[in-house]
Amino acid sequence: MSELKGLILSGGKGTRLRPITHTRAKQLVPVANKPVLFYGLEAMAAAGIREVAIIIAPETGPEIKAAAGDGSQFGLEITYIEQDAPRGLAHAVLCAESFMGASPFVMYLGDNLLRDGITELVETFKREQPDALILLTPVPDPQHYGVAEVDNGRVVRLVEKPKDPPTNLALVGVYMFTPSIFEAAREIEPSWRGELEITDAIQRLLDRGLRVDPHVVHGWWKDTGQVQDMLEANRLILDDLEPEIEGEVSDCRVEGRVRIEEGARVERSTIRGPAIIGAGSRIVDAYIGPYTAIGNDVTIERAELEHSIVMSGSEIRDLDHRVEASLIGRDVRIGRGPRVPRAYRFVVGDSAEIAIL
Ligand code: G1P
Repeated sequence: MSELKGLILSGGKGTRLRPITHTRAKQLVPVANKPVLFYGLEAMAAAGIREVAIIIAPETGPEIKAAAGDGSQFGLEITYIEQDAPRGLAHAVLCAESFMGASPFVMYLGDNLLRDGITELVETFKREQPDALILLTPVPDPQHYGVAEVDNGRVVRLVEKPKDPPTNLALVGVYMFTPSIFEAAREIEPSWRGELEITDAIQRLLDRGLRVDPHVVHGWWKDTGQVQDMLEANRLILDDLEPEIEGEVSDCRVEGRVRIEEGARVERSTIRGPAIIGAGSRIVDAYIGPYTAIGNDVTIERAELEHSIVMSGSEIRDLDHRVEASLIGRDVRIGRGPRVPRAYRFVVGDSAEIAIL
């Protein structure tokens, strides 16, 4: 088998993560203070892959390029390929055809997270040499995913987001392909949502009698397309956090697995892990509870937070009640206004969501 390459899809509009995605690519939203996209890139590097193409959209491409660069920070060589519009995952695969040439490749959806990485899967794929290998996992809501029927260890049929799912086995957003996928992707028609579905292209492989092996994922997997999934991914990653205190801590209670990065200052506060506090942040007279990721240069004063993500540059001050299950963007200010007149005062962007007591 010739050298395996990587393909990461990092386009899409991220509509379900608005308003965060009005100003930032969904793949760059941080999970435990690291962009989601970087987990996929690191998994590829760990599996021994060197050459990776990232499919980008015209709107968010520049930001993705600025973050991932030439790939050297991951030990990868990254090439960027622009997809003019979100025409589907199979269309994205076709955009990468000349880059892949005759190489087999791993395709990774840039907003997916796979706890156990892909190293073992890459080994299986190389050893077994099927025409494609797909990852499956049982889910409670299969109608929101591609769904597979498996018989005797072989995939027999695939359907994209069926109203009446034949099984609960969802397609996870990581796939291994041989170049046979290109012809299959050319043969399919757009689906009801107007996209060339990768699920349909893999079904074409089956129709042509090619071998598609299933692999059921046992570690966790998350598609971070929605706020609740993002918070859940943050929780799962923080569960494996290595504690480390590099910043300054004075007059505090620090319990459980907590990481306080360099240049952060924590005073008169309780930090109950797993939690991470980014470089340059200030936490004063505050409570930071489990499953919270505070980005860089954030200020939290006289406020309580847990199970939340706060991105860089934001300030949260003087709150009477605890903040939880919240995704707070960059440079946001949340605080108390003047006492009179007693009123809420908001300057809030499009598609924001605010829940008050
Ligand atoms: C895509 C695929 C679907 C797969 C899912 C995994 O769905 O079309 O088959 O199960 O990714 O994240 P989308 O995110 O485009 O709705």
